[in-house]
Amino acid sequence: MSISVADSPDACKSLGAFYTPPDVAETLVRWVVRSPTDHLLDPSCGDGRFLAAHSNVVGVDRDPHAVATVAEQVRHATVVAADFFEWANSTRVKFDCAAGNPPFIRYQRFRGETRKQALKMCSERGATFSGLTSSWAPFLVVAASLLKRGGRIAFVVPAEIGHAPYARPLLEYLMDHFRSIRVVAVRDKVFPNLSEDVWFLYAEGYGESCGGIGFSRLESFRTSASPPRARDIVSRSAWEEWNGRLRPYLVSDQVREMYRKLAGRTGSTRLGEIAKVGIGYVTGANSFFHVRPSEASRLEIPQEFLVPTVRKSSFLPQGSVTQSTIDGWIEDDEPVLLLRIPPNRDLPKAVREYLDSDEARQAQLAYKCRMRTPWYTVPDVRIPDAFLSYMSGLGPSLVANTTTCVCTNSVHAVHLTNGLSAEELVQRWRHPLVSLSCELEGHPLGGGMLKIEPREAANVVIPAVGIRLSAHQRTLIDEGIGTMRRWRHYA
Ligand SMILES: C[S@@+](CC[C@H](N)C(=O)[O-])C[C@H]1O[C@@H](n2cnc3c(N)ncnc32)[C@H](O)[C@@H]1O
Repeated sequence: MSISVADSPDACKSLGAFYTPPDVAETLVRWVVRSPTDHLLDPSCGDGRFLAAHSNVVGVDRDPHAVATVAEQVRHATVVAADFFEWANSTRVKFDCAAGNPPFIRYQRFRGETRKQALKMCSERGATFSGLTSSWAPFLVVAASLLKRGGRIAFVVPAEIGHAPYARPLLEYLMDHFRSIRVVAVRDKVFPNLSEDVWFLYAEGYGESCGGIGFSRLESFRTSASPPRARDIVSRSAWEEWNGRLRPYLVSDQVREMYRKLAGRTGSTRLGEIAKVGIGYVTGANSFFHVRPSEASRLEIPQEFLVPTVRKSSFLPQGSVTQSTIDGWIEDDEPVLLLRIPPNRDLPKAVREYLDSDEARQAQLAYKCRMRTPWYTVPDVRIPDAFLSYMSGLGPSLVANTTTCVCTNSVHAVHLTNGLSAEELVQRWRHPLVSLSCELEGHPLGGGMLKIEPREAANVVIPAVGIRLSAHQRTLIDEGIGTMRRWRHYA
């Protein structure tokens, strides 16, 4: 069944249909087209803004409404109503260049046959994406593979190209297939109504390879005949050292160099070397499994079935969760008692009755509950040594756990693995280098927030004990933090 932007805002999301400002489209086409006869492809042409900027053009879009608009308004264009991957699989046409703004559909919506075919075609072309990839990256690989030797591409891309793990196979593919690649980061929003920032990707010399990526930063988009001169040439090995991320190149060379030196100091380590960072447990039905102290006593649920838990990062105090922290939550009658029911156990009457209530019947319908046996035993409930908030304005806080408190997946659970105490880790976490490290290893979430996934938290530098900073190093750290915050729009 075909969907169209004309249907609803939700259809726009499913299609990733956000059209590019015309001056942006014209700028990309101006660079990618070198001769009036060049044959240009836009693999997801929408209403034809890229197609309008050149005469010899082919556009593809799966939205019949968009295709009808192009047919009416961009008469010189050849336009095809099709799924791009299906079309690309059978076309024999080769292009001099490709430009556009591929749909940004996250993996949760990018699914079914389209995704299957996209990932298969990419893997045949040497780019292996996991099921967690967003749609735009396979679009670029397959569009590039339709070029003639020497061909060029110029695309609007999400700023995720600078940090997402799925951008890695894309950039590897591009380095293996183009003579030169340029990524241009833009700080101001190109799409004022979207929370996602967009950057630009330029590549030329299809059929050759290169050893790195030219990277430049712009405060705001401006029309130009060619991309700004690359401020940095990020060699492939440097890019790999940064775990395939370009984001750290937003800060100055001096900041990166100082960071690398301090991270390499004797006694400094990465969080992943001294701890395991993971997500907290997932109940599937939070309001059923978390009860208020007043409710627990009304229902007469025995203490042994209840365990205090961190429900939200805003509940975390500074420093440590102690018995008095929990006493405070209990006094405020917060819903912080997790119902922990082991499997294969005779259950007291009060618990059996709760499991037979209307709320329980409702909870059992939840996907996670349906998928486990018995449905009422929440898996992976472990007492962590520390909690780590992972979505924050200023930066993630690390809080030691001196109690039997557990946590939901609203915070990360930190389990120490090499004998360091949680209190010492919290102490070392206060070092300013950690704040810079969280900025460089984490990623922006929109709305000025910084997010840190467990794999990113594992890379955070934990400085050596007592490491002293010179005034110059302190200045560079502040500069680096300031730059990264500006780029994630933290006010
Ligand atoms: C971000 S919009 C870009 C449109 C246009 N290039 C522009 O920038 O103004 C993405 C477009 O991709 C189209 N699209 C989404 N999935 C597609 C697919 N599998 N094959 C072809 N087009 C697709 C949507 O209908 C939408 O028009």
